[in-house]
Amino acid sequence: MKSIGPHLLGIEGLSREQIEFVLDTAEQFREVNTRTVKKVPTLRGKTVVNLFLEPSTRTRTSFEIAAKRLSAESINISGKDSSVTKGETLIDTVLNIQSMVPDAVVMRHASSGAVNLIARYLSNVAVINAGDGLHEHPTQALLDLLTIRQALGRIDGLTIAIVGDSLRSRVMRSNLIIHKILGNKVRLVGPPSLVPFEFADLGAEVFHDLALGIEGADVVMSLRVKFEYLKDVFIPNLEEYSKHYFLNERVIAAHAPDAIILAPGPIVRGVEIDSALADGPRSHILKQVENGVAVRMAVLFALVMGKRAEVDLN
Ligand code: CP
Repeated sequence: MKSIGPHLLGIEGLSREQIEFVLDTAEQFREVNTRTVKKVPTLRGKTVVNLFLEPSTRTRTSFEIAAKRLSAESINISGKDSSVTKGETLIDTVLNIQSMVPDAVVMRHASSGAVNLIARYLSNVAVINAGDGLHEHPTQALLDLLTIRQALGRIDGLTIAIVGDSLRSRVMRSNLIIHKILGNKVRLVGPPSLVPFEFADLGAEVFHDLALGIEGADVVMSLRVKFEYLKDVFIPNLEEYSKHYFLNERVIAAHAPDAIILAPGPIVRGVEIDSALADGPRSHILKQVENGVAVRMAVLFALVMGKRAEVDLN
């Protein structure tokens, strides 16, 4: 099967053909984003509900823009504005949303598996995972891959070094799965408390030395250290982390001179990555954000239109 659906709960379970289908469809939609009038009638009359029960800048905005550029109605619900704050359960929340007959629900939630759970309760609604706990963030991995394909001209035979807080990263998990499907090598780089040896069981190589971990890599992806969890004492402090794992032009030029730099964002300048590297010619960080709109247009289109998914850009 080439298209995807009925839901996008994770990268897990997708085939290479389905991944390439999303990338190719996103490439078609990218052109719409360069027009003076950035709108096509593809999803006219459809309704997309963005239910974000955890903070987001890039994902929520790009899903909203994606829906609007496809001419769908887009409604945003955030945790603090919803009746979840009054004690309503997640299941009751989504059953009430379903009663208003949306075509897609895009959800971000702090709990791993929450998106899979609501998909079991909803019928005739496409459910899209916009990041659930430590589980997956599938559209992030897809937009990362589109960015890699544009920058390097291929998605095969790659070595991807992911530097930072893998332990608490759904982005890492979705990227690891996508690159395993493609047969690429993934290295996880960071201190043992954030990149435990057991992660090798997931099919990655584990490195606690930055230089060795990024040596010869095609892609270096910087993950934010989730300092809001520092009370869990995973690392002594951010200065100690930066001393060993800070990404700057000098270390990249010395060990991964041909690498492109990616980061899902938000980036914390001066802690995990140097501004000169983040803003420099190797960096594709803002390109990732740009591609996020096109990838989310492709995913909404494929899931809402289902088998009728044939792109018409007029
Ligand atoms: N990359 C990403 O998920 O960013 P947001 O948390 O801002 O959506």
